[in-house]
Amino acid sequence: MQQSRDGFSSRFGVIAAAAGSAIGLGNIWRFPYVLGENGGGAFFLVYMGFIFLLGIPLMLTEMSVGRAGQKNPYGTFRVLAPKTKWYLVGVMGVAAAFLILSFYSAVAGWTLHYLSDAVMDNFSGKSSAELKGMYDSFTSSAVAPSVWTLVFLFLTGLVVVSGVEKGIEKYSKILMPLLFVIIVILDIRSVTLDGAEEGLKFLFHPDFSKLDSKAVLEALGQAFFSLSLGMGTMITYGSYIGKKENLLSSATSVSLADTLIAVLAGVAIFPAVFAFGISPDSGPGLVFITLPNVFLQMPGGYFFSVLFFLLLVIAALTSSISLLEVVVSYFTEELKLSRKTATAIAFVSVGVFGVLSSLSSGPLKEFTVLDKTIFNLFDFISSNILLPLAGLFIVLFAGWKWSRKSIATEILGEGKQETTLFKVFMFIIKFIAPFAIALVFIHAVGLIDIIGRIKI
Ligand code: PHE
Repeated sequence: MQQSRDGFSSRFGVIAAAAGSAIGLGNIWRFPYVLGENGGGAFFLVYMGFIFLLGIPLMLTEMSVGRAGQKNPYGTFRVLAPKTKWYLVGVMGVAAAFLILSFYSAVAGWTLHYLSDAVMDNFSGKSSAELKGMYDSFTSSAVAPSVWTLVFLFLTGLVVVSGVEKGIEKYSKILMPLLFVIIVILDIRSVTLDGAEEGLKFLFHPDFSKLDSKAVLEALGQAFFSLSLGMGTMITYGSYIGKKENLLSSATSVSLADTLIAVLAGVAIFPAVFAFGISPDSGPGLVFITLPNVFLQMPGGYFFSVLFFLLLVIAALTSSISLLEVVVSYFTEELKLSRKTATAIAFVSVGVFGVLSSLSSGPLKEFTVLDKTIFNLFDFISSNILLPLAGLFIVLFAGWKWSRKSIATEILGEGKQETTLFKVFMFIIKFIAPFAIALVFIHAVGLIDIIGRIKI
């Protein structure tokens, strides 16, 4: 029946592809600066707690739902809960993937541009003010960022159009080990710099006085984004995982790999930043302004800057592949389009939104909806609304609607006795996860602030 459906062919392929989705700009661009802004080590501990307590269970849930349904997120809910409105959760997932891909490819376009700058040695001889100027003038111009966004999306489309096994799996199996080797080389460079200890201390020494409730919620949001949860990505990839694979071990390996790479990215960045006396909390510009500055002062800086931006491009590419696959699988399965046509339509439509996102740092800076630029609006709607809402409904579905037997079959195997670990998992999914996600959601849309203000 299912023979004709494309899917992952090996265990390593499953892990490489799913880790490829999880490991992305979220780990290497976002995690270090969010950690920097939230005081370092203590934030990291809380983040790890969320990965174990909520991240792994939720990833396991998404993979189980996808593998049971054998379809894209929308189709999966149609199969598992026919004649109900649960398919709307799938619709949210597909919409979130579409929007995230739009602004994600805008930032990914910057990484391509920076890679080309690094290769052409364009940072050399620049002062830190000039580097900042380069970043500002590039991100605010009209043509170059849009072109890089489209180039990036095109590369993503090239992989996705080749299919799951011959495209996504094949490239993930090459790119992910490469990413790992590059990050280890960068780590060795960074920790062997004079004065590196300060950076390691910043990363690993928890100072709980810097931790407030905002940082805790931020850690949870970052954990979800970083693990690619709540967007139908892991449902879609789950549907390509063979029935014999052990989902618990896949979800755990992928989550641990994702966390490891976030830590390694921190180790590559902070010791170097501290060694050259630069402030660690420079926000989204950290990797684009601060790091070129660091590379300039470092022996072998040219080589390491090329490696670093290559790392960013690879990380972004394997994540955007998974986002595009969500949209393409929906088009092929529900609209019955060929993979080629589906990818082409997705490329054009995401391309339009991607260019709009990229223009919103420049010519469209003043164009705002609800006080937000297009880029920020897409980020807000997808990361702060669709993602936690879809995540919430996915756990509610698995905990309260789907039969316990079906979920046990996916996780433990047909007819197996429930283990203690499984019982703990079900408890988390039923009671803890919905509550925690609802809290992030309420915080993210600003309701807590609103309630706070009403009291005053
Ligand atoms: N997890 C990716 C990252 O850390 C982003 C992503 C989110 C990718 C959702 C796919 C789906 O960069």
